[in-house]
Amino acid sequence: MDSNTIEATAPDTVREHFREALSHFGSGVVVITAIDPTGEPVGMTVGSFTSISLEPPLVGFFAAHTSTTLPRVLGGGTFCVNVLSETQHDLARAFARSGTAKFAGVEWTPGVGGAPRLAGAHAWIDATIDVRHTIGDHELIVGAVDGLLVPRTSDPLVFHRSTFHGLRAR
Ligand SMILES: Cc1cc2nc3c(=O)[nH]c(=O)nc-3n(C[C@H](O)[C@H](O)[C@H](O)COP(=O)(O)O)c2cc1C
Repeated sequence: MDSNTIEATAPDTVREHFREALSHFGSGVVVITAIDPTGEPVGMTVGSFTSISLEPPLVGFFAAHTSTTLPRVLGGGTFCVNVLSETQHDLARAFARSGTAKFAGVEWTPGVGGAPRLAGAHAWIDATIDVRHTIGDHELIVGAVDGLLVPRTSDPLVFHRSTFHGLRAR
């Protein structure tokens, strides 16, 4: 086997290489935003966003139990999925940093249900929390879609192997 290749066939080596193997799955990048019960805007960068159901329209994401933003999103009851544009990698990094004033200098407007729609995003999906489910060390949050806004003017941000990319049509 080539020295660049990683292979794991036992639980301890699977654990060792799990993160790196997962980093080979490219994903879009979203910031989940909400207004917490004290009225403060909150948000976190998420790569685990997914569409779940067309009828009814449901979306979801997985948040680590260690997230300090998660309980504040849950307390708000609604959230906005800000699908980031190709140029918003700094915003993705800023909203991935725990314990900072993530909204300093960030422009936003309230979506349906009040959760912040961040300026310049590729698309916005507003949702009301429908189902929560604990799975391993993460919480699955499912939201019923209340509204959306898609300007069709930008390209999306992509995350692959710990690096931000743009999308190239082939
Ligand atoms: C590209 C990218 C994708 C991420 N995806 C997730 C995710 O799906 N779930 C999650 O819990 N954290 C994810 N994170 C990490 C969170 O953004 C980060 O732990 C969180 O914002 C920490 O802040 P908090 O304590 O305010 O929640 C991701 C980070 C990056 C940079």
